[in-house]
Amino acid sequence: MKVAALVGSIRKDSYNMKLTTFMKDRYKDHLDIKIVQIRDLAHYDQDIESEAPASVQNFKAQLSDVDAFLVVTPEFNHSIPGVLKNALDWLSRGEKEMEGKPTFIAGATMGILGTVRAQMHLRQILNAPGMGAQVLPGNEILVGQVQNKMDEYGQLTDQKTIDFIDGVVDTFVSYAGEKFSQATV
Ligand SMILES: Cc1cc2nc3c(=O)[nH]c(=O)nc-3n(C[C@H](O)[C@H](O)[C@H](O)COP(=O)(O)O)c2cc1C
Repeated sequence: MKVAALVGSIRKDSYNMKLTTFMKDRYKDHLDIKIVQIRDLAHYDQDIESEAPASVQNFKAQLSDVDAFLVVTPEFNHSIPGVLKNALDWLSRGEKEMEGKPTFIAGATMGILGTVRAQMHLRQILNAPGMGAQVLPGNEILVGQVQNKMDEYGQLTDQKTIDFIDGVVDTFVSYAGEKFSQATV
């Protein structure tokens, strides 16, 4: 299953990017995770969407053949970062690349609550009629105090966290499989 990962932090030492890379490597037998960059996207502007800039066309082209999405976000001021919201706004227009696609979400933060408020907003956004993502219900990957759970190479070292993520990924693989079989009957 081809999964596009969108990561809400663009800083070079991002824990969220490290978490995504960890998941890409760990689950490579079940999921073909491709991390799609959102750093250089133009700001969403309705005036230019019919002739979108190359950054947007390139971004959307990379998502045209994916089966599913993983959205990984830090928490910025109790919500998702603007850079991620901008990317999602582009995906709610034109081809609507996330529409009907099985999607799961994750986040890491150095704070205690582990992106819980950001993920609540993210879920709301992904459920907007313009987005139409099929978000895995009842499961969330919240890694709080991530600086204590990851080594300097970006490998998670906290076994409880790893076991938990393994469980969510298993659930997502089943969920996405059910969505595919529904789509083909
Ligand atoms: C502008 C800004 C706002 C933040 N707001 C929150 C917040 O509301 N809640 C929280 O737990 N952490 C907050 N943080 C801390 C980030 O979640 C933390 O720095 C996290 O590691 C960023 O993710 P990254 O490592 O992937 O870049 C904020 C950080 C920044 C830069």
